[in-house]
Amino acid sequence: MKWKKIGRVLLVDKDIENPQKLLEMKGIETVVKLGNIGGKKREPDVKILAGSNTETINRENGCIFKLDVARVMWSKGNTNERMRIANIVGEGERVLDMFAGIGYFTIPAAVHSKAEIIHSIEINPVSYGYLNENMSLNKVENIVKPVLGDSMDIAPQFSVDRVLMGYIGNTQDYIESAVAAIDESGIIHYHESVYEKIKFERPEERIRKSAECMDVEILNKQVIKKYSPGVVHVVIDAKITK
Ligand SMILES: C[S@@+](CC[C@H](N)C(=O)[O-])C[C@H]1O[C@@H](n2cnc3c(N)ncnc32)[C@H](O)[C@@H]1O
Repeated sequence: MKWKKIGRVLLVDKDIENPQKLLEMKGIETVVKLGNIGGKKREPDVKILAGSNTETINRENGCIFKLDVARVMWSKGNTNERMRIANIVGEGERVLDMFAGIGYFTIPAAVHSKAEIIHSIEINPVSYGYLNENMSLNKVENIVKPVLGDSMDIAPQFSVDRVLMGYIGNTQDYIESAVAAIDESGIIHYHESVYEKIKFERPEERIRKSAECMDVEILNKQVIKKYSPGVVHVVIDAKITK
């Protein structure tokens, strides 16, 4: 059985005998079986095995994240990537987070960097509600500007230095919107789930295709985690100059 602790909630991946027993663990008040995470809005399929409160506060890298694990996803395997981005953002930068969720990338970047502004778009109203709560819990309302809606249409309205594309699904369909949001020159952090054999070729090709007639410099490519058998979650940092 795999398990992870998100604040006071213990997430498990299977039905277990006597889940009540797990409530004896220090700091655990709810045990939840997490199934698949589905759809554009990343809504999890959950079953409460013990306890009742699925809203919790998770602390990571000096940031506070409030969320309801029964309503929005939490991706534990992306911890290092969230901090890598927070450390990369430079002083005075204008940043756009196209898939903000509850603030997975936005909050650490706002807390740890000296960004001028972070525009954070989220399509799921539940996640958007937590994004707003997390902005005030982390006292970054002056830097983060949340937007509820579809980043495909909204992103091109901005003019920024850096675009975060922390979503896997059909992320390739959003590259053109991300590129449109870049000012004269800037960096996109493009995520993709891809067969290991073509792990960097395919995403790089897709970026170059969407930024035709522009100068594309690949600054970094790395695997974030294994996604499923033979498939990995990768991120490519690409500098786009128009
Ligand atoms: C769950 S996050 C990804 C998790 C993140 N990579 C991490 O480190 O945990 C992706 C978010 O993108 C949102 N999303 C999906 N499609 C979107 C769109 N077209 N516009 C804005 N937000 C979108 C989902 O609702 C979800 O909250």
